[in-house]
Amino acid sequence: MKEINSYYKIKKINNKFNIFKNKKRIAELGCYPGGWTKYLKELNIKNFISIDIKKTKYNKNYLMGSINNNLTKKKIKKIFIKKICLIISDSCPKLTNSKYINKIFLERHLKKIFFFTYEFLKKGGSIIYKTMNYVNYSMIKKFLRNFQYTKKIEFVKKKRSSEIYYYHYNFLK
Ligand SMILES: C[S@@+](CC[C@H](N)C(=O)[O-])C[C@H]1O[C@@H](n2cnc3c(N)ncnc32)[C@H](O)[C@@H]1O
Repeated sequence: MKEINSYYKIKKINNKFNIFKNKKRIAELGCYPGGWTKYLKELNIKNFISIDIKKTKYNKNYLMGSINNNLTKKKIKKIFIKKICLIISDSCPKLTNSKYINKIFLERHLKKIFFFTYEFLKKGGSIIYKTMNYVNYSMIKKFLRNFQYTKKIEFVKKKRSSEIYYYHYNFLK
């Protein structure tokens, strides 16, 4: 079920923004159980790696590890000698019943995604990532200044706790 929901989300995002067009090297952060990967395969995209701390079967492009782990990063650099054109991240820490704790977890996790981007994204590249509407916006605001354009994507609006995807493109570094 989770996998199907995720699949339709990335499909909707792509139908609207055509995110994969001319993207040669793609990194998918947080790929388990595999909805987004399934979509990438359907589009016949080959030059991608999918990363997760959980083990997934059926994905030969899969790399097991955390996105902030040095060994994982070393492996990525071996696979992609040049910098990455597109990062797509549905990655998210395990959430609790407490919004307060979740906020801390999510902000810590966002930092990992941002550091990953600074290290791996090529100039002119793009990133899509998920967060929640209660995460401190100043963090995101600081990050988005590194890009020429930003789009905010919400599937459910007007809920006190809901997911938001940010699409930043044309990395300026
Ligand atoms: C919502 S799921 C992703 C669903 C996926 N996009 C799909 O289509 O099936 C979030 C994933 O992020 C992964 N994750 C969380 N922290 C991570 C990290 N530091 N490095 C890699 N993956 C991480 C989790 O293990 C989890 O599988």
